[in-house]
Amino acid sequence: MNSIAIMCSGGDSSGMNCAIKKFVEYANDKNLIPYFIYDGLEGLIDGNIQKVNYKDVSGIIHLGGTVIRTSRSKRFYEFSNRKTAYDNLQNYNIDKLIVLGGDGSFKAMNIFCQEFDISFVGVPSTIDNDVYGTDYCLGVDTALNIIKDALDEIRDTSSSFKRAFVVETMGRDCGYLALVSALTSGAEMCIIPEIKYDLDSLKLKFEKEIKDGRSYIIAIVSEATKDTQKIKNWIQEDLKFEVREMVLGHIQRGGSPSVYDRLMAFEFIFYAIDRLVEQKKINEILVYKDAEFKFLDIDDVVDKVYQIDPKLLKLASKLTR
Ligand code: F6P
Repeated sequence: MNSIAIMCSGGDSSGMNCAIKKFVEYANDKNLIPYFIYDGLEGLIDGNIQKVNYKDVSGIIHLGGTVIRTSRSKRFYEFSNRKTAYDNLQNYNIDKLIVLGGDGSFKAMNIFCQEFDISFVGVPSTIDNDVYGTDYCLGVDTALNIIKDALDEIRDTSSSFKRAFVVETMGRDCGYLALVSALTSGAEMCIIPEIKYDLDSLKLKFEKEIKDGRSYIIAIVSEATKDTQKIKNWIQEDLKFEVREMVLGHIQRGGSPSVYDRLMAFEFIFYAIDRLVEQKKINEILVYKDAEFKFLDIDDVVDKVYQIDPKLLKLASKLTR
């Protein structure tokens, strides 16, 4: 029987546990021996690898995070460590690998697959939703729902006082989380790196609205802009509004996976395992583009920059000027 392994790499995202559970169940259906690589690339170097069965994945479907843990590995940059990682896989006869991760992890895997004989499918999994070639990354739906809940609550207190709230969302270099959150929570401002904002015209707009009775403002700022303080000061000094700032931080990465993320996790795993069984040697990323699952060669994904859908950018532009 052939062996297949799964691991997580980089930032965790909700839905990883659903993928891990389905991985074990579907690998068994396909007569493959399933293995976990614990602690991401760090665990791969350290040989933290274990054969698993359905008991190892019972009771995890509703949990955020990842039961096999993850890591950001600097050691993997060194060839000698990558060689050790490969030797560890060989010790268990593992030549098929599924990696749940983001852009940085796929870059590392691209180097690894060029150096060693390993078949690999990457499943885009990051709340940043910033992997080139896919419209959706596992976990982004749960993160958006967590942000939505937080913003609904902030709106309650914001409207009770005459106050503005500047809320910073994650996203690394990408404004997707901030953009979708601003639109779906009815925020008044959205500051993301993909759209140039204009504080002068925003000032004119808000001054008029404040005169007409506007009593609170919610501004969503992507961490990617590094402009949270600037926007806070601007609201305080230029709009003369009392402001509170809130960095949502790592709560955006936790939480029980949404129904959508659970279903997508299952689909990703079905496609990934089928592909690894059918093809002898592949180094591919499984993407979800225009409502279809597709495989892209890893070279066509890494080193390319994800672009937010122009239709979404157009919708958000009103919140930037
Ligand atoms: O990539 C996911 C992410 O949560 C980013 O949005 C954020 O910038 C970063 O990871 C935070 O990294 P860490 O968990 O290492 O603090």
